[in-house]
Amino acid sequence: MVDLFVCGICGEPYIGGSKPDDCPFCGAPKKFITGFEEFSTLWNGELTAQEKRDLQETVDLEVNATAYYKDVSDSNEKYSKINRLFKQFARVEEEHAEVACKLLGIEEPEMKGEKSKGSIEEDLKRTRELEKEAVKKYKKFLGRVENENARKFFEALIHAEKGHHDHVDRELK
Ligand SMILES: [Fe+2]
Ligand SMILES: [Fe+2]
Repeated sequence: MVDLFVCGICGEPYIGGSKPDDCPFCGAPKKFITGFEEFSTLWNGELTAQEKRDLQETVDLEVNATAYYKDVSDSNEKYSKINRLFKQFARVEEEHAEVACKLLGIEEPEMKGEKSKGSIEEDLKRTRELEKEAVKKYKKFLGRVENENARKFFEALIHAEKGHHDHVDRELK
């Protein structure tokens, strides 16, 4: 018996026997995933000027990460571990950029950003740095957010980016 689940952060559907531990699309933790009946979209409600600035900075970080991880994936042999890992990272970051844009009510910008550093080790190190920096920023944003939906979003982002950071950390050991 399979059910239709929807992620309350990114709004993507998932069909399965049970809820996944993390959303496969945006990496949000299980508690944000519901059955379709309880699902509602995140992108409504008023934002303060500070929240708008924080969400715009989120868009910028996520767009750069999407472009960079795509480039790292494309720079490695197709179906190799790094190629697959960074394809998934890029997919998740693009989902984050999309949600931030929806919360802001703006069009998604072109995914432009930094390029592969030329070696797997350098790319893993840079990724760890980017993810650490993102977690730090999102914790700061979470500390001053008032809008309930944006609060959930930053909470989910911290969980997802921490997961990326820890994964890369293991690869580097
Ligand atoms: Fe999601
Ligand atoms: Fe992200």
